[in-house]
Amino acid sequence: MPEAATDTAVALSVESLTAGYGPVPVVKKATLRARTAEITVLVGPNGAGKSTLLKAIAGVLRPTEGHVLLNGQDVAGRAPDRLVKMGLAYVPQVANVFPSLTVMENLEMGGIVRRHSVRDRAESMCELFPDLRAALRRPARTLSGGQRNMLALARALMADPSVLLVDEPTAGLSPRYEQVVWDHIRAIRQTGVAIVLVEQNTRRALAEADWGYVLVNGENRLDGPGREILDNPEIGALYIGKSTTTHGGGAGAPAAHNGDQNTGETAVTTNETRKEVGP
Ligand SMILES: Nc1ncnc2c1ncn2[C@@H]1O[C@H](COP(=O)(O)OP(=O)(O)OP(=O)(O)O)[C@@H](O)[C@H]1O
Ligand SMILES: [Mg+2]
Repeated sequence: MPEAATDTAVALSVESLTAGYGPVPVVKKATLRARTAEITVLVGPNGAGKSTLLKAIAGVLRPTEGHVLLNGQDVAGRAPDRLVKMGLAYVPQVANVFPSLTVMENLEMGGIVRRHSVRDRAESMCELFPDLRAALRRPARTLSGGQRNMLALARALMADPSVLLVDEPTAGLSPRYEQVVWDHIRAIRQTGVAIVLVEQNTRRALAEADWGYVLVNGENRLDGPGREILDNPEIGALYIGKSTTTHGGGAGAPAAHNGDQNTGETAVTTNETRKEVGP
């Protein structure tokens, strides 16, 4: 893979990033690159540190070591709001919309970093996510789980980011709605955004990915084209389950979700406890 410094298609380059919640690091010297107009997925067993890595990139957690190059500029340790202004958007798995605000107000909040053309951008979001148009005046809490995930994506895109980090956008959705979300993710890729996605449905994610990273115990295990990782029988057996179908594969043995407790925004699920909250 070309060096990030000389490859202008690399919008995000994470180098040797270490981060955690206390003295013991959760993510250890992790490396990740995301290129413009590509889907980069991050998979691995429960508790591997995938969400922690996204938080450290997004500035929600301050890394203790390493670099985060956003379009060539080192932004490690900067506050999330500054990063949004610089083109890095982050959609956490839960609490990713304001439930009491209307859909339009949520979009406006997402567009707060824009100096102008909030309405135009909101209109573009309605074109990208047609479900939202019909719901513009409704409080976000009245949306289905899948629609809320759409709104969360649209809200993040209001800032017109060059890099979009998304944590488990299909968690808890019915297979049909999962498909809809993937259709949208692909449409976002078409707009030139570098997308970094954490996914529970490992097989599906790797099948969709331009590039995949497997994170185990906070460390990079391997990376490569998503299909190549999927087709590697040893890796498949160890980290992504033995299933040969493109649906329902899991990242190792799924364990109960921890930490991020639900605020009622989005169902928190594992492969075992997947609930259908989409329409
Ligand atoms: N807020 C927190 N405070 C302390 N420890 C945390 C916190 N959030 C996560 N951890 C711990 O960090 C480790 C990695 O968690 P993380 O949520 O990043 O994993 P993950 O790969 O996203 O897992 P999952 O697939 O279950 O979402 C786990 O041991 C977890 O218990
Ligand atoms: Mg996680």
